Amino acid sequence: MLRKLARRSTRIRTCTRSARLVLAAVVLATLAACDGGASQAQDAESAAKNGVNAHDAHDANANGSNGAKLMKISTNAAAAPGPASHGQSRAEVYAQVRRMTALGKQMFFDPSLSGSGKMSCATCHSPDRAFTPTNALDVQIGGADMHRPGMRAVPTLKYLQAVPAFSEHYHDSDDEGDESVDAGPTGGLTWDGRVDHGADQARIPLLSSFEMASTPRKVTDAVRAAPYAKAFREAFGEHIFDDEDATFKAVLKSLETFEQAPEVFYPYSSKYDAYLAGKATLTTAELRGLQLFNDEKKGNCASCHISQRAKDGSPPQFSDFGLIAVGVPRNRTLAVNRDPRFFDLGACGPERTDLDHRDEFCGLFRTPTLRNVALKKSFFHNGIYHSLEDVMRFYSRRDTNPQEFYPVVKGRVRKFDDLPRQYWTNLNTDAPFDRKPGDAPVYTEAEIKDVIAFLGTLTDGWQPSAH
Ligand code: HEC
Ligand code: HEC
Repeated sequence: MLRKLARRSTRIRTCTRSARLVLAAVVLATLAACDGGASQAQDAESAAKNGVNAHDAHDANANGSNGAKLMKISTNAAAAPGPASHGQSRAEVYAQVRRMTALGKQMFFDPSLSGSGKMSCATCHSPDRAFTPTNALDVQIGGADMHRPGMRAVPTLKYLQAVPAFSEHYHDSDDEGDESVDAGPTGGLTWDGRVDHGADQARIPLLSSFEMASTPRKVTDAVRAAPYAKAFREAFGEHIFDDEDATFKAVLKSLETFEQAPEVFYPYSSKYDAYLAGKATLTTAELRGLQLFNDEKKGNCASCHISQRAKDGSPPQFSDFGLIAVGVPRNRTLAVNRDPRFFDLGACGPERTDLDHRDEFCGLFRTPTLRNVALKKSFFHNGIYHSLEDVMRFYSRRDTNPQEFYPVVKGRVRKFDDLPRQYWTNLNTDAPFDRKPGDAPVYTEAEIKDVIAFLGTLTDGWQPSAH
């Protein structure tokens, strides 16, 4: 219930909230002190009001919203390899951010950083699909021999700038004016929220035995031999390659900085953004879908996947970044799940380790943004579904017709088969998860089509059709 109250907001704040991916923003925030942040937030607001053209606005958002915490971590940025940001002019800092963005981009597409020499970040995060895979596998295959299956579906890398740092008890100043409301566990990167910064996140796939299967040494050797080696030395110092650790850190920071490029990662250029700005009209099906999406008695989708602007005018992220248990069925085709005793319990492990033994975190996964969701080919943390129709049917009929989703053993449905029973109290029970067998499903098939039509308006790169 508390959670639900806390739902009606996005997570972009002015000068209060924490940071995540944000090296670029970190560096810039060292320039923009907190009151500078506030005026930038105003820029963001007016740009948001002016509509979708907003990448300047989002630049400002990234700064303005994170001023306080960013200033604290800016010491990290200064400690990052390369010329210190102390004593640098504004122009120099911007230039360094530009260099790191350009390097990060090249490394993002560079398979030589991987153990196999065949896999780059882009192999799993394709820019054509909002940085998700081009194939429809449930989970991707990687590793030194390119035969090792992963255990989770690949999330989009867009709009991560709005994810707050992980917190067990999130308090949101945008929440109907009441910051005392505890929104529960929120934020952090990856499905279980286990890291807060893009640099720490990038370390995971680079070193994972089932992803890029590399080492700091291999990465250093690859960068030294890469076409961008010279640019790398220019950005981080002539002798950077002498220090493997420093090189690896600079790689991670550059990837993080690239992931903060607003025009690539958070352009807010969807039809829905244009609609909010009064510059596009939704079709009747899309409008019906929006209503069905927002309706608290129907899908209640917007309670977690926020669809309205925040009070400060910042655009909706289509997630409140809460960690929630929705009881997704076990994906029996995953290699890890061949072991019947294995469970991916999200925030309480096994991938995440700091909250093990904390039962209240078992089964929780971070609510993903639905921006660009129509470009995805596998859905939910375990990639079990491959069409939005299937996802919608799950939301609509999970509780009214559970036998359609969970195994039936000796005539009995084994509901929530991917979450051991002792954790069922963690499952969300608000609408649409408040029905029982015999009730009408949340949506009819026609309504499902409408909601999907609406979800299609969240894809970036919308152009008004020429008349
Ligand atoms: C083999 C496929 C694969 C490769 C290669 C890969 N990733 Fe990922 N990425 C994933 C998966 C799967 C997740 C979700 C992991 C989890 O929840 O444990 C993820 C999560 C992320 C996230 C967090 C997204 C979120 O919603 O919080 C970021 C950021 C990211 N990857 C960046 C990168 C970068 C940078 C690289 C290259 C260094 C990279 N990835 C390489 C599969 C991949
Ligand atoms: C109580 C919060 C909550 C509500 C309400 C909710 N969702 Fe979700 N949604 C989540 C979480 C959490 C996940 C990820 C679950 C997982 O993978 O275990 C998710 C995942 C999704 C996905 C898959 C996205 C991806 O990238 O894999 C879609 C699509 C989606 N939701 C749409 C909807 C729609 C449409 C509604 C309304 C019918 C809705 N959601 C209601 C929390 C919620």
